[in-house]
Amino acid sequence: MNAYDSMKIGDLLKPFGYATTEVIEDADMVILNTCHIREKATEKVYSRLGRIRDLKQKLGKEMIIVVAGCVGQAEGEEIFKRAPWVSIVVGPQSYHNLPELLAKLARNNKHVWDLNFAEDKKFDALPESLKSQGASAFLSIQEGCDKFCKFCCVPYTRGAEFSRPVEQIYREALIIASQGSKEITLLGQNVNAYHGLDHEGTQISLANLVKYIAKINEVKRIRYTTSHPHDMTDDLIEAHGSIEKLMPFLHLPVQSGSDKILKAMNRKHNIETYFSIIDRLRDARKGMAFSSDFIVGYPGETEQDFLYTMELVKRVNFAQAYSFKYSPRPGTPASTMAQVPEDVKSDRLQRLQDLINQQQQAFNNASLGQTFDVLMEKSGKYENQFSGKSEYMQTVNIQDASEYIGQIVKAKIIKSSANSLQGELIKNSQVAA
Ligand code: 5AD
Ligand code: SF4
Repeated sequence: MNAYDSMKIGDLLKPFGYATTEVIEDADMVILNTCHIREKATEKVYSRLGRIRDLKQKLGKEMIIVVAGCVGQAEGEEIFKRAPWVSIVVGPQSYHNLPELLAKLARNNKHVWDLNFAEDKKFDALPESLKSQGASAFLSIQEGCDKFCKFCCVPYTRGAEFSRPVEQIYREALIIASQGSKEITLLGQNVNAYHGLDHEGTQISLANLVKYIAKINEVKRIRYTTSHPHDMTDDLIEAHGSIEKLMPFLHLPVQSGSDKILKAMNRKHNIETYFSIIDRLRDARKGMAFSSDFIVGYPGETEQDFLYTMELVKRVNFAQAYSFKYSPRPGTPASTMAQVPEDVKSDRLQRLQDLINQQQQAFNNASLGQTFDVLMEKSGKYENQFSGKSEYMQTVNIQDASEYIGQIVKAKIIKSSANSLQGELIKNSQVAA
């Protein structure tokens, strides 16, 4: 979502004469779009800000420094105390006001900020997508979260749950499709809690929204992330069976395999419901593959609780998964509970990641000899190598496929490793023009 927001900030500032650059020395304005989800995010931002100040001094040029995103939201005006060379602080729901803040800054203000939560106004104020995102595009449909998992800062930094209206999303999807993207990933912190209004004021579920978007001919693939098990409704599970364009891969965070820990985390789902969702999705769509998020060392997690997590991983058999050590976030309920020692967390993370890596390798190995549809995205690491994504989100590298960038091709998988596959183009194999 931060990548989506950064792109929108670029679009927003373009009419004011700004163009984006990856070369910091060229920049008249540097925007740090920050994430606050784990670890010492705040400290990292301050040390980065120190380096930007040094660079600005060395170059001896005007450079407006902006902190955007969730660290901006969490730290607020404190940033100006610790880093007075920062001119603007904006949160993730108020960055649409950047042009106004720049105007205020020009009227001889040293420090300006906006940390309001006004997500409905934000989307109205943002310009339509100005340039193609490439083969695969992001589209934010929902923001914020009302779930309040006890480890998580999102409800505090991104604010309350908000769903964009259907028409606005559909229009953006049409623009994205007309710009040549073949795949759309619908984004939200709690994307399957989506309940936006259509033009008649009727609430529309994520499953129905996906159905609308699937009608756009140029859109060949649809994904959505990140989902909560609690909101995996029957119609959404069915949609995986009935909508071919909805990809057979789902990222569905479970966090822990222990009911006791799930309860302590305020996750609102238990292990049995998680297994049942997985089984029903596998019944609905042949070959459905899964990814998840795990937290190890949550306050109160015993060795036995952790072993339940390992059992869950074995039973589901993931295509890939992300795992993290619990990281106390200031202001969240779990941060003040008795903590699991660091060495215990590290040991558990290692064991979990070993298991997940084995599963990922086995999933990739099972692709050998199969023919996959691959959406070609960009140049690869090596000469004449090009890289795309399978339906299961695996990176597939193919030689001499430059003319197929932005297209879906059929490729036979001839090599597999833990992180990627190698494919061989099947001649005249273009699936979608
Ligand atoms: N500590 C560790 N991991 C966290 N996540 C969210 N908050 C924390 C935290 N305080 C993880 C969860 C979530 C993912 C995006 O980040 O697993 O699903
Ligand atoms: Fe955070 Fe996701 Fe829980 Fe919301 S549902 S509080 S975003 S982990």
